[in-house]
Amino acid sequence: MPDVTPEPIMRTAMGFMAAKHLFVASEIGLFEALAQGPASLETLTQRTKVPQRTLRIAADAMVALGFVERDGEHYRNGPVAAAFLGGAAGAPDFRPMLRFFNRISYPAWLRLGDAVRTGEGQSHFERFTPEEQRIFSEGVESFSAPMAAALAGAYDFGRHRRLLDVGGGTGSFLLPVLRQHPGLKGTLFELPGAAAVARQRVAREPEGERIEVVAGDMFKDALPAGHDAVLVANTVHVLSVAHNLDLLRHIRRHAASGTRLLLVDIWTDPTHTQPPAAPLMAGEFLVIAGEGQAYSEAEADAWFTETGWRKLERKPLAGPGSLIVVEAA
Ligand SMILES: C[S@@+](CC[C@H](N)C(=O)[O-])C[C@H]1O[C@@H](n2cnc3c(N)ncnc32)[C@H](O)[C@@H]1O
Repeated sequence: MPDVTPEPIMRTAMGFMAAKHLFVASEIGLFEALAQGPASLETLTQRTKVPQRTLRIAADAMVALGFVERDGEHYRNGPVAAAFLGGAAGAPDFRPMLRFFNRISYPAWLRLGDAVRTGEGQSHFERFTPEEQRIFSEGVESFSAPMAAALAGAYDFGRHRRLLDVGGGTGSFLLPVLRQHPGLKGTLFELPGAAAVARQRVAREPEGERIEVVAGDMFKDALPAGHDAVLVANTVHVLSVAHNLDLLRHIRRHAASGTRLLLVDIWTDPTHTQPPAAPLMAGEFLVIAGEGQAYSEAEADAWFTETGWRKLERKPLAGPGSLIVVEAA
């Protein structure tokens, strides 16, 4: 086997080091410090207040991973870090996603083995402190931002007047969609802890005036009435099949015939291995939510038939995310 090397094992096994280095570089403010301009280690130490010896370890790891470039004694942000990690105005900010992965996901992933063996989630998301809830909600918004921007342009919202976002997080989808569609009003339905974060978040944006935040449980409580479109984004994957069937039935009971339901998720092929991010994220859904996983489009098709929805189309969004549109039959 002359062409076979253990390199893929080494690369994958050391992947956690790469991820953790990236989280920490972001947390110590390395990319923000470099956004002020190229700098020597000495200057970076002053900017970040991190000791020079350990800052070098963090900065050199970022050079090795391609996020930072080094020119003699000077470090500078590479194009990806400059665009998405340095706090540049107007570009999607991925720092909240890294904070979420570092503070919420990573500790839960330490127990992935237990989750795989027992099927039990390893986070305590039902008992998040307000600070953890904020890190979770802002991190999910950051993760969702590319898909949300794509949805705002990919689907014809011009046909709708009122959009209900069930499990709407901080408004990660409602805000960009309403920004692009001034005639549309929105309702964000969330559990009370997340709804509190969402209220503060949407109040900071002009579109917030067209958004009502309603706290409730999407399985137990009546859903807000009077909407001709319902969005469920990145939420199917935190639920079991039984809970997804319950949710689809519950929404169908509240939806007039012809209401559209937009399901944004990392829908997979029938093997659950494409897109490649899906099986990796399935581990995240498992450790965070216990019952979650990445579902295939074919699995969802069977749910729609069972719960009174007629499938219209599936569209790619950004990255591994895609949209399935169904209509109340
Ligand atoms: C992964 S997040 C997705 C948030 C948002 N849709 C997005 O894509 O950015 C799943 C959301 O579902 C909400 N959720 C979970 N169970 C819920 C329930 N029983 N009722 C209402 N919301 C719920 C969570 O609070 C969380 O914000």
